[in-house]
Parts: sequence; structure tokens; C-alpha cells
Amino acid sequence: MSEPIVLGIESTCDETAAAIVRGRELVSNVVASSMEEHARYGGVIPEIASRAHAEAFVPCVSKALTDANMTLADVDAIAVSAGPGLAGCLAVGVSGAKALAWASGKPLYGINHVIGHIAVTQLQFGAFPPDTLALIVSGGHTSLLHVADMPRHIDVVGTTLDDAAGECFDKVARLLGFPYPGGPHIDRHAQAGDPHAIRVPQGLTQGKAGAEHPYDFSFSGVKTAVARWIETEQALGHEIPVDDVCASLADSVADVLAKKAMRGCKQYGSKTLIVGGGFSANSQLRAKLLEYGEKHGVEVRIPQIKLCTDNGAMVAMLGVNLVEAGIAPSVPDFSIDSSMPLTTVSL
Ligand code: KG4
Ligand code: ZN
Repeated sequence: MSEPIVLGIESTCDETAAAIVRGRELVSNVVASSMEEHARYGGVIPEIASRAHAEAFVPCVSKALTDANMTLADVDAIAVSAGPGLAGCLAVGVSGAKALAWASGKPLYGINHVIGHIAVTQLQFGAFPPDTLALIVSGGHTSLLHVADMPRHIDVVGTTLDDAAGECFDKVARLLGFPYPGGPHIDRHAQAGDPHAIRVPQGLTQGKAGAEHPYDFSFSGVKTAVARWIETEQALGHEIPVDDVCASLADSVADVLAKKAMRGCKQYGSKTLIVGGGFSANSQLRAKLLEYGEKHGVEVRIPQIKLCTDNGAMVAMLGVNLVEAGIAPSVPDFSIDSSMPLTTVSL
């Protein structure tokens, strides 16, 4: 099988998605989002998201097949996100995928959604070089990984000790009155602001803590500092310079991520940095990573925006990697794992 054809299914959070990948080619890509149904609650409501997955599952999968001009008989394998994510949401996708696999007799892979976020870069940039470094920035994860051998061997080099960068943005966005998810609003306002207007701390970059945690992250202090600053200004009756707050926050977070990622590349001798996760859609981070990459002679591979946020292509692409590597499909009674570790690529 030179170019495996894989159907990828995604349902970890508020996107129901399905896609077909053939080798490194994206053949079809369908995403249905329940994001608007959650906006008024200020965050994803698991029960609402699960119900939306149950509604969208069959329409998404059938559209992905129709768009690819295929039926289930044409695919070599099915891959589904089995974690990490919301348990009820994962259960809908995994159960649906199991039914499809059972009825069609196709092998099924329960894969790690977060690893899918970096796998997806192969659709644009080709296979991973061996021993490469990867930066994962999703809603729940901020981690540096050493990908020794994709998809067989991945180690965690560093991770956030508290909030993820995406979480930190979403929390500050709430303070500023933006609807969920706040990240894209901060991004937009930051483009009009002064990145040096407010001093935002950079956690674990200096002194003893920085030396002890060269590749770890901490963003809860950032959130607290920005919240304090806003409170103080409000108490003084000052108008909040929203654009400047967003620009200062975004610049500080992007700077820490880019600096630590480059240091990791140097440490591991990697001339490539793979980037993935919803937060990699952030324009300040993208610009900073490309700037630092050029300075340090590191090729930075960031997916195009539509492949940064949750989608089925990332799941299908990782499925292709697993098929190509000759890794056995998941056992028929595999379950979901809402806190799947980053070192588990498939169940
Ligand atoms: O990877 P993802 O789609 O979901 C998870 O698997 O967690 O990431 C969602 C996160 C949210 O925190 C959202 O605010 C953030 O990505 N995000 C952004 C942008 N687009 C999405 N954050 C900053 N700027 C953006 N443009
Ligand atoms: Zn994600």
C-alpha cells in the first residue's frame, strides 16, 4: 500500500469533523462547529457539544466521502480521536467510528488528537525529519516535544506547569468582555495595539526558576498580572486601552513560546520546528516564530489557519502515518481516554 487512504474523524470538543487523506494529499475536509451554541455560556458546555456531535456525525462523514468521490469501501483505514478531550464528545466520535469500521471491515485507529495537530503539517511540508522538535499550542496544551521517530517515538521536553497559552488568552478575553473563544478576539485587537504598552511578566524565563525549567511554561502569572493591571486602571477610573492590553499580552506570550522553542531546537540539534494546535492560528505567535526561526536557522512549519483549529485532516494524516509504519490497529474494545498522555500516539 504505497499511498494509504484514511478517513479521519474528530469530535474531541466543539467541532465535528471528517476528512480523507491519501498519502500526503488532503482529498476532502468537512468541519461542523457547535461553537456558537456555547458562546453565550462563556465556554464549551459538554452536554451541548455531545448532542451536536450526535447530530453532525453522519452528515460530516458522508460529505467527506462524497466530496472525495469515494465510499467506505475505498478507504484503507479509519482513524478517530480517542483523546484527550471531553469524555461525552469523544464517546460519540469513537462509537460512530467503531460502527463504521465494524460494518465495513476496515481497520480502526484510536489516535491522540494533540499529536494530530502536529501531524497535519505533513500535508503542506511533507514528512517529519527524524529527531525534530515540535511545539504544541492548543486550548489545553502548551508543550515542547521531541519527535524522535514519527509516529513511533515521541518524548515530552517541556510543558506548562499551570495554564496553557490558549487558556490564558481565553481567560483574559473574558475579563475584557469578549465572547468564547476569546483567543481570536485578542489576536485581532492586538494588531492595532502597542506591544510594549504594558509590562507583562514572562514566567519561567529568568533566575533560578528559568534555569530549572528551561523548556517548561507558566502562564497563570501572566493572566493574574493583566487582571490586576485592568482592576487598578478601572479603580482609577481610567478607560482600558483594550488594543494595548491585547498587544502586550500577545507579544509577551509569543516571545516566551518562540524563545523556548528555539532553545529546544538548539539543544536537540533540530533544524526544523513543527508547530500545531488551535493557538498556532495566532498571528503574533506566527510572526514571532518565523522571525526567530530565520534568526536561528530553523525552518518553522506552521499549518495554514484552517488546519490549525480542530479538523479531521489532522486525524486522517496521523492515521496515514500509523498505517505506513505498520502499526497494528486499535483493539476492538479500545475506550476513550480524556486525559491521554502526549507520549501515546494511538491506543
Ligand atoms: O486546538 P484547539 O482548536 O482546541 C483544543 O484542542 O484545545 O485550540 C483552541 C484554542 C482556544 O484557546 C482559542 O482561543 C485558541 O486556540 N485560538 C487562538 C486563535 N485561534 C484559536 N488564540 C489566539 N489567537 C488566535 N487567532
Ligand atoms: Zn485541538
